Amino acid sequence: MQKSIGLKKIKVAVFISGTGTNLKNLIKFSLSPGSPIKVALVVSNNSNALGLNYIKKYKIKKKIYKFRNISKEENIILNELKRKNIELICLAGFMKILSKNFIKMFNGKILNIHPSLLPKYKGLNTHERVINNNEKFSGCTVHIVNSKLDSGKTILQKKVKISKNDTPRSLAKKILKQEHLLYPKAIVKFLTNL
Ligand code: GRF
Repeated sequence: MQKSIGLKKIKVAVFISGTGTNLKNLIKFSLSPGSPIKVALVVSNNSNALGLNYIKKYKIKKKIYKFRNISKEENIILNELKRKNIELICLAGFMKILSKNFIKMFNGKILNIHPSLLPKYKGLNTHERVINNNEKFSGCTVHIVNSKLDSGKTILQKKVKISKNDTPRSLAKKILKQEHLLYPKAIVKFLTNL
């Protein structure tokens, strides 16, 4: 059942660490007609994250946590999420690893986007590794976050063809474009199946 069509929108917190193009795209999606989500909070471990600039004009609240004392800060974040009635977390270029306890407490409602065709190329420097291995295809995956890195159930994937001239940078650009199409679709699919 998709909860929010014609009803209340699902409140989402987006966690970012850097550029935030996926955040920007999710905000755009949240404002589109019939969107099931409202981006109600942005959480970052980096007060200089470029993505934080996007949220000003939409008056979206932000919270910065250093994630140094993980268990203490995660409890504060969980309380904040509860206070704001956040029902879904979307990780979008968030470079910190959430604890098992946090993931459990949030009850499986955390999604992540990863720039590879998982289960291949988990972790960092995906595009470099893909190119070095002469892969013909790469892509992106939206998955549910579980306690193992980049390993939760896949919701949607998009394949991208790698051309001979692709560099890690050009491939990242190609894939990012597809990420922006994939994340909203995956959110709708996830919410529909709740
Ligand atoms: C994306 O490629 C995402 O898949 C990965 O980090 C990058 C974040 O890009 N997890 P942006 O900050 O959303 O522009």
